[in-house]
Amino acid sequence: MLILGIESSCDDTSVALVDASTRGFKILAEKTASQIEIHKKYGGVVPEIAGRMHAEKILPLIEEAAAKQPKPDIIAVTSGPGLITGLMVGVEAAKTLSYLWNVPVVGVNHIEGHIHSVEIFNFQFSIFKIKYPAIALIASGGHTELILIKKRGQYKKIGATLDDAAGECFDKVAKLLGFDYPGGPKISKFAETGNPDAIKFPRPMLDKNNFDFSFAGLKTSALYWLRDHTVIARRSRSDDEAIQSSNDTGSPRRYAPRDDLSVNDFCASFEQAIIDVLVGKTLKAVEKYKPKTIILGGGVAANKKLRETLSSAIKQRSQISNLKYPISNYCMDNAAMIAVAGYYHAIKKGFTPWQKLKADPEWEIAH
Ligand code: KG4
Ligand code: ZN
Repeated sequence: MLILGIESSCDDTSVALVDASTRGFKILAEKTASQIEIHKKYGGVVPEIAGRMHAEKILPLIEEAAAKQPKPDIIAVTSGPGLITGLMVGVEAAKTLSYLWNVPVVGVNHIEGHIHSVEIFNFQFSIFKIKYPAIALIASGGHTELILIKKRGQYKKIGATLDDAAGECFDKVAKLLGFDYPGGPKISKFAETGNPDAIKFPRPMLDKNNFDFSFAGLKTSALYWLRDHTVIARRSRSDDEAIQSSNDTGSPRRYAPRDDLSVNDFCASFEQAIIDVLVGKTLKAVEKYKPKTIILGGGVAANKKLRETLSSAIKQRSQISNLKYPISNYCMDNAAMIAVAGYYHAIKKGFTPWQKLKADPEWEIAH
């Protein structure tokens, strides 16, 4: 079955042609236009600009991806949740093509796409299939959710953030440090050489007996810490000597005082707080529901330390780790994951007549 996937729920316009068969999934063509360079100037995604950019890019991208390929058997499009301005563009494109090509269309939940992103293996057939029951932690700029999947397609949201998403918290704190949007990858890069125990940030909701998250308080703690301290660029031995000598001579201090920390220490401590909460809550869910597959998806799943910490925490409990995360490119929003999730609806004839397909920015995967 040849599937045209379309994703436009945030700041990536993405189109993919995926071959789905008993051998697994194989991407035949993929085209993505990122809007990051434009939104960077504003420090975050501006919905109106995003909508206009999607509208500009979507048809040329479909044309490029579909060139020299047979007509798809189905179209799978993200119809929620996400920014209405972007979703509408993808959904209207899918409806138009469904009508023109006389091909059925399926509306896919964006979170369901992230869940199935672990079944993608680039341009080769992927043989990995999720085993159920599964637990999925989906952490991105817009979402932080723990989902129990009893059987394929049977979702129960067991926990979610009550305020900011994990990626949003990374991005907002990165902005305080003067990093460009999206700041998550920059924080994790600086964190690599920092001390995660340097600053004791709170681990919100970790001791609560539920699967919910809250990151707004952590963001505020980071804000207050930055207000009250100076972070300095990574300190080397020569910096230390310079501080010493400038103090000794009584000349004006060119460097932060000794008790201030490097930006690397700040990033490592902040990142560790987010990781501890994400890992702690996921482990609680694993202990309760004993899943056969544990899925880590969404943009924040690209964080290497999060992957390693979660994987080794699972191994400590059960000797082997049944954690599965997407190959790096597919952590971020992409159309291939939408095509894969759409395939599972298509084999159950879960189509929507194009006249009835609607973008739903608030679409919950399950309650
Ligand atoms: O899934 P995604 O592409 O878009 C949304 O649906 O939001 O996720 C983007 C988010 C951003 O907040 C970005 O900062 C975060 O994922 N992110 C990371 C890393 N790479 C991307 N956060 C922490 N560490 C990373 N390495
Ligand atoms: Zn996403």
